[in-house]
Amino acid sequence: LVVNASESSGKPIPDTLFGIFFEEINHAGAGGLWAELVSNRGFEAGGPNVPSNIDPWSIVGNESSLTVSTERSSCFERNKIALKMEVLCDSDGTNICPDGGVGVYNPGFWGMNIQKGKTYKVVLYVRSSGAINVSVSLTGSNGLQNLATANIIASASDIANWTKVELLLEAKATNPNSRLQLTTTRKGVIWFDQVSAMPLDTYNGHGFRSDLVEMLTDLKPQFIRFPGGCFVEGEWLRNAFRWKATVGPWEERPGHFGDVWMYWTDDGLGYFEFLQLAEDLDARPVWVFNNGTLQMLGVSHNDQVDPSSVMPFVQEALDGLEFARGDPDSTWGSIRVAMGHPEPFDLRYVAIGNEDCGKKNYRGNYLKFYSAIKQAYPDIQIITNCDGSTHQLDHPSDIYDFHVYTSASDLFSQAHKFDHTSRNGPKAFVSEYAVTGKDAGRGSLLAALAEGAFLIGVEKNSDIVKMASYAPLFVNANDRRWNPDAIVFNSSQSYGTPSYWVQRFFTESSGATVLDTTLQTNTSLIASAITWQDSNDSKTYLRIKMPQCMCIYVIYIGAMMDSKRYYGDILSDCYQE
Ligand code: AHR
Repeated sequence: LVVNASESSGKPIPDTLFGIFFEEINHAGAGGLWAELVSNRGFEAGGPNVPSNIDPWSIVGNESSLTVSTERSSCFERNKIALKMEVLCDSDGTNICPDGGVGVYNPGFWGMNIQKGKTYKVVLYVRSSGAINVSVSLTGSNGLQNLATANIIASASDIANWTKVELLLEAKATNPNSRLQLTTTRKGVIWFDQVSAMPLDTYNGHGFRSDLVEMLTDLKPQFIRFPGGCFVEGEWLRNAFRWKATVGPWEERPGHFGDVWMYWTDDGLGYFEFLQLAEDLDARPVWVFNNGTLQMLGVSHNDQVDPSSVMPFVQEALDGLEFARGDPDSTWGSIRVAMGHPEPFDLRYVAIGNEDCGKKNYRGNYLKFYSAIKQAYPDIQIITNCDGSTHQLDHPSDIYDFHVYTSASDLFSQAHKFDHTSRNGPKAFVSEYAVTGKDAGRGSLLAALAEGAFLIGVEKNSDIVKMASYAPLFVNANDRRWNPDAIVFNSSQSYGTPSYWVQRFFTESSGATVLDTTLQTNTSLIASAITWQDSNDSKTYLRIKMPQCMCIYVIYIGAMMDSKRYYGDILSDCYQE
């Protein structure tokens, strides 16, 4: 490998190059990055009609001791369903309640991770026709191991109207498969709604699961694209992610059923929280919004929107930008302020849809969004779904989206994908790439090596490729909707697949200098070399990557150099299998 380290051979890599793409898929957010422990906290997952399915809530007791049903009686307008619990047994008389009481429990998302010494905040809304004594407890999966308990004791007059109750529970033992129980031994009728349980020690206190965020910060992402993917589209528009339904007080959010990945989200992780996460990661937010088209190519659902009626969607996007960036006294900016963020978010990238190019209304709709956004926010970089890598686009854009899911050998060869792309026109954003299928399974070294080769190609072509992110980012091991993924987790554990670790090899690349390299070999190998200045010690380092042999050399370039050669110390060895 010959590395030409002359200053003239070096090309600056954009400081935006490597980032992450978060999609609500595989329970990545609900039951994952978002630290809410209760699943279906508002009893809304079964839909707006009654009787409604309250899954995964279940009953403690039997038919002779209690009945539960759903009613449209909540105090929250946008999520009317509440749980009615009629307790038939009592602490004395002929129908005596069992010792632990009767009631309901929520197992969370495949078990709640309760840890000894940690404090959990439980918030719920309750009302009753009489006095109540309700135990709120964290227990093992069969309800027997008591990890923490607090009681809600209230007189009939205190509780006649919906009342918010907040409790702090400190766990006295650890169990990664716990549940939350609401039980009583007193006869009467009690209504519950919006039951939340969260650990107090979320990342920056912002509601994110710390261990998972730390895996993200280790990637040093320069941007975060969110919230999808197909998640923003929906099979039906009524099931798409619409940002306005995800902001404001969490208890008032309606939640929605994501009909592409087929699960309910309470939308605790909403538009505000995504922007907050970007800020916490020191990454640029890239917001993908629905443009009035749907996920399924060729299916003409009734609710597709054509250009003549797309203006409400355009206004929705403009309002979303005002929410993120507007003055504190603007209509939507003031809601951001009320949520605790007076400063604007640094939102400078938006994508008009996801994988929608070619759908019949896309181009027409896109143009309406493009001109309205450019007029109101000229500095915003607009991303089109149409691939501009092989031909000139027929519409204006700053960046075009490029997705690739393929075999290992094909992705390896796509290291040269952008070698001959026109350098004029919009930049490329490889916002989803991965080896999939049998080469990858649920994650493999072969897949990671091919991805490493592809990223070397991206690095070398970073004069035209401005951004790249792997997909999908997360999978809850209990809900594998898509394989492979970068980070696998359950309620208490997590690990990176080889595809995650290959991204770690590129953490220094964004903003570095890529050098000209020549490989003197007949075999199909690929390598790149970058130099960068470390902000901690101001030294210049050289990193050579050859993914085929998992070779990463990091060399400190010292002061000793003559006109032709740099001398350095090899700081790291080739990783050997
Ligand atoms: O990453 C999984 C899915 O793949 C995304 O939702 C979609 O954009 C792509 O088809």
